[in-house]
Amino acid sequence: MTENKISVSPNKIVAQLEGAVKKYKTGDTIITALKPTSHSFEKNKLTLILGPSGSGKTTLLSILGSVIYPTEGTVKINGQIINNLSQRQLADLRLNNIGFVFQYFNLISPLNALENVMEPLKLMGSDKSEAKKRALEALNKVGMTDRANSLPKNLSGGQQQRVAIARALVTDPPIVLCDEPTASLDHDSVKSVLDRLKKMSEEDRAVIVVTHDERLKPYADEIVYIQNGEISEVQKELKL
Ligand SMILES: Nc1ncnc2c1ncn2[C@@H]1O[C@H](COP(=O)(O)OP(=O)(O)O)[C@@H](O)[C@H]1O
Ligand SMILES: [Mg+2]
Repeated sequence: MTENKISVSPNKIVAQLEGAVKKYKTGDTIITALKPTSHSFEKNKLTLILGPSGSGKTTLLSILGSVIYPTEGTVKINGQIINNLSQRQLADLRLNNIGFVFQYFNLISPLNALENVMEPLKLMGSDKSEAKKRALEALNKVGMTDRANSLPKNLSGGQQQRVAIARALVTDPPIVLCDEPTASLDHDSVKSVLDRLKKMSEEDRAVIVVTHDERLKPYADEIVYIQNGEISEVQKELKL
């Protein structure tokens, strides 16, 4: 029997949703932001989750990122089911497994680029000289070594996002989640940021980007389309 190359290989899966649902309760109304959703996310892939505003992208990413619990269904991160973990255990799981990149960069304004990238390592309890060494390596990977001492306000949007990417990868997480990472960037910065995210996926990581930005399609290995809180289509193996 020949192997089916298109099938998902279980040892590459780093994050998995099975019938995951998210309902928000505001007053008397309940909004179903995510209808039952199942998908497996793999290493060495840049997966794009593409959908219009309000379709449930941030909700899906927050569940994957173990920031919120699913109302129903299960979420597995690196083989571990998160549903029954405490808030404290979730925080540890996030710190060890997930790097986050946001639309507005979320850098800490009084800290320079280097200090921003050192932050997650400080939270993990690394000693200062080790944290500095690793932060400088991460900044080097995104081409920001020469701006290590700059404050965020003195960097362009694209440069700030590259610092944010360095911060996401400094702990060497198997999963990197990005919420509209290019929404406030010009065309040239989009290319530079996506090239870096792509490279990160090639270093044995799952990079998952949610966006409404069609410009990002050429960078994707896989595209998951989401509409009205559910997956409407999945395009796999786009490299072939
Ligand atoms: N914290 C919340 N409380 C109540 N409703 C929410 C909350 N977050 C999102 N929603 C609703 O859930 C739906 C999906 O939102 P969201 O996941 O932010 O979509 P997207 O990121 O694609 O714009 C929207 O109708 C939104 O108003
Ligand atoms: Mg959103």
